[in-house]
Amino acid sequence: MRTVSVFDTTLRDGEQTPGVAFPLNYKIQIAKQLDKLGVDVIEAGFPAASKGEFEAVKTIANLGLSSKICALARIVKYDIDAALDSEADMVHIFISTSKIQIEHTIQKSREEIVRLAVDAVEYIKDHGRICMFSAMDATRTEIDYLKQIYKAVEDAGVDIINVPDTVGVATPFKFYDLIKELREHLNVPIDVHCHNDFGLAVANTYAAVLAGADEVQVTVNGIGERAGNAALEEVVMTLHGLEGIKTNIKTEYLVETSKLIERFSGIKVPPNKPIVGANAFSHESGIHAHGVLKDARTFEPGVITPEMVGHKRRIVIGKHAGRHQIKKILEDAGYQVDEERLTKIMEKVKELGDKGKKVTDLDLFAIAEVVLGEL
Ligand code: KIV
Ligand code: ZN
Repeated sequence: MRTVSVFDTTLRDGEQTPGVAFPLNYKIQIAKQLDKLGVDVIEAGFPAASKGEFEAVKTIANLGLSSKICALARIVKYDIDAALDSEADMVHIFISTSKIQIEHTIQKSREEIVRLAVDAVEYIKDHGRICMFSAMDATRTEIDYLKQIYKAVEDAGVDIINVPDTVGVATPFKFYDLIKELREHLNVPIDVHCHNDFGLAVANTYAAVLAGADEVQVTVNGIGERAGNAALEEVVMTLHGLEGIKTNIKTEYLVETSKLIERFSGIKVPPNKPIVGANAFSHESGIHAHGVLKDARTFEPGVITPEMVGHKRRIVIGKHAGRHQIKKILEDAGYQVDEERLTKIMEKVKELGDKGKKVTDLDLFAIAEVVLGEL
């Protein structure tokens, strides 16, 4: 069975989420949790960015974790030396390759960019580190130039190349074709890094894996610049659940990890978020709940279960609730209700629901007490 490697960038691109800054003790706890989760690579930060960032990467690199630790660097000596000095196992270098970014940010010729990339790879390899090369804005870069620069760094000894969809403009079919073309042109492993500007980051990452990508760059809860990055939990469970493609992720820690990142980042996970959201395995409608109480596969994908991701199935009460689920919740709580009383309880629950009120288990028990006391 095929295994895809997971490169987590929650501590680097995830921390670039506007308003998010993790203090050192949070970063250490996040790195330990990612290691427990089983990610293959942790991008711990950008050492040249600040003294604190350098210290954080160095501290994480020396925690003795099983995950490989990666440090980000622009293709400038100062950045690369900072990444090497941080003692990270791997240095991830990047440079813009699209026309728009070259013209407005780095203002160098295409030939010079290739030469700088090759020199940087050789320098990092001379220092005995793993090297990843990213052609930033790859999805808006001319394909011939993209192939040329990736081939040049491959010849220089790069260990893995990354194809970033920096501004999230890829679409699954086009990204599939791009990765397939690069896969046929190159011999090095391919990693992909997708942003979510159009809500396609997970779909694009998935398409890339089908086209032959070896590694996926993701963040927990999909946090990151602008609309964020591909969400680790969604990519991993899509690959596991729908394609039978394995990763080394211990999926039972996904919800626990999501909650930690929610707490430390202050970015709330919406209840309808796939896999880890509070409603991901919740059922309110009577028809659904009735089916699920008999066999969860009736109204859940079935190929994944709440237990697989560290979640719980919930049967929720509301105006859509049916007799079976209300009876089951009451019986589980020790109430014995006959059909007549159940009908009365149902009426009261629906009355509340129609008024737009949320009905909790405690509300239901209070209603049951009243009805049982009345009759
Ligand atoms: O989105 C991007 O292009 C990046 C690079 C640094 C890989 O985050
Ligand atoms: Zn990015």
